[in-house]
Amino acid sequence: MAVDRPQRFGFRAAVNAISVAVMVNLIALAASAIGAPELLNNDTPVLTPSIFAPTSTPAFAIRDLSYFVLGICAVIFIVVSGLLTYCVIRFRRRPGDEGREPPQVYGSIQIELAWTVVPILIVVILFLTTARYIFGIERLQPPSGLQATVVGHQWWWEIRYPDLGIITANELHVPVSDPANPMPIFLTLQSADVIHSFWVPQLAGKMDVIPNKTNRMWIDPQTPGLYVGQCAEYCGLEHARMLLRVVVHAKEEFAQWVATQQATAIDDPGVRGGREIFQSVACINCHTVRGTLANGIFGPDLTHLMSRVTLAAGAAKNTPDNLRAWVDNPDTLKPGALMPAMKLSPRDLDQLVAYLLTLR
Ligand code: CUA
Repeated sequence: MAVDRPQRFGFRAAVNAISVAVMVNLIALAASAIGAPELLNNDTPVLTPSIFAPTSTPAFAIRDLSYFVLGICAVIFIVVSGLLTYCVIRFRRRPGDEGREPPQVYGSIQIELAWTVVPILIVVILFLTTARYIFGIERLQPPSGLQATVVGHQWWWEIRYPDLGIITANELHVPVSDPANPMPIFLTLQSADVIHSFWVPQLAGKMDVIPNKTNRMWIDPQTPGLYVGQCAEYCGLEHARMLLRVVVHAKEEFAQWVATQQATAIDDPGVRGGREIFQSVACINCHTVRGTLANGIFGPDLTHLMSRVTLAAGAAKNTPDNLRAWVDNPDTLKPGALMPAMKLSPRDLDQLVAYLLTLR
C-alpha cells in the first residue's frame, strides 16, 4: 500500500524525536543539579561553587531568578513530554490499522495561534523578569563600601585596594557584610591584555574584564568563608587555570590581614644570598617586593607571596616544592605562562626559593 511506508516512517521518527527530547532534557536537568565541579585539588575545604548556595545580595537575586526560569522550563517539559507520551501510546499502530490513514488536519488557526502565541508570551515573561533582576541588582547598589580593583592579565588576576595601599594577586580578601549594617565591596574590573570573565558563583553574576574598558560590580558576602570562582569565558591556553579565591573574613580578622599586607617585605638576614640573586636577575623587571629594588609590575606583587595559598592563579598549591618547580620552569605547572624559566643553577634556585619562602 502506498500509505504504508510513510506511516511507519512517521511513527519511528516520532519515537526517535521523543527519545532525543527526553535525553536532552535529562542531561540538562542533571547538569543543573550537579552544578560546577570543585575547582581546587588541595586540602582546603572548598564550598561548592553553586549558584544555588548564594551568600551575597546579587547572588540571592540570581538564585531566585534561576528558580523562576527552571520552574517555567519544568512546566514546559512536563506538558510537552506528557502530550508526547499520551500521543505515542494513544495513537500507536494497532493490528487492523494496515492501509488506513489517520484523519489529516490541514491548517488550523487555533492550533497555530496556540503554538505561536504561548511561546512568545513565555519568552516575553522571561525577558522582562530577567531585565527586572539585572536592573534591580544595579539599582540596589549600596552607597559606600570597600573599593577593590581586579585587573585581568595573561594569566593571572591582579587585585588592588586603592584606599588601603595593598596590591596582591589571585586571592581576594574582603570583610563579611552584616545585612543589618551592610559593608559592600565594590569591584572595578579592568584588564591589561586579555578578556576574562570574573565569576564567583556564590557572590554575584559574571562580569567581563576587558582591555580599555572599566566594568563594575558589587558583592556583600554575608557568611565568612572561602568562595571559589573561575574565569567564565574562554580566553586562551590558560583559561582552565584562571581560578579565583575570595576569602570572606570576620571584621577583626580582615583588619589583621590588611595590617599584614600593608607592611613592607620581611628582610630575613638568613636568606640575604637568595635576595641578592633575586635582585640580580630578571625577576625584578616584572615583580615588586616592597622594600627592595624590585618594582616591576608585569607580574604579581611578591611582597607577601607566602600569605597566598595558591600559585599561578590557582594552578597549584603554594608549597615550597611547587614554588621551586614554578621558578625553575613555570611551564611545568602552567603551560603558556608568560614567566620565563630563569635557568638558574640548582644552588641558586634553592637560595632564591629560600628567600621567597620568607615573604610572608
Ligand atoms: Cu580568562 Cu578564561
